Amino acid sequence: MALYSEKVMDHFRNPRNVGVIEDADGVGEVGNAKCGDIMKMYLKIKDGIVEDVKFETFGCGSAIASSSMATELIKGKPLEEVRKLTNEAVVEALDGLPTHKIHCSVLAQEAIEAALKDYESKQ
Ligand code: FES
Repeated sequence: MALYSEKVMDHFRNPRNVGVIEDADGVGEVGNAKCGDIMKMYLKIKDGIVEDVKFETFGCGSAIASSSMATELIKGKPLEEVRKLTNEAVVEALDGLPTHKIHCSVLAQEAIEAALKDYESKQ
């Protein structure tokens, strides 16, 4: 069996929502001290809905695929739903990640949490 699912490869090769939102309502940056990968998440929020989301990931392929999939999962969603996003949901949507790459999906969850926290601190 291939180490990475088709979905992981697809999101790694063609990541969705890459970039910066200049006037973002919430920005979250997190890193993993062990692997040194960094992820930055930008949220544009209107009427309690994630209107737009973009990310920049300086990291491994699984981190890129995880952040891409995570943005797809939260785009257009109400904040209550976004708050509940877990890394397991990201892994499931990617049709799995190897065990030693699970932390890459945790980084995506943490980046979204950090961006939400930033947004809430400004309200
Ligand atoms: Fe650390 Fe992927 S190896 S985020």
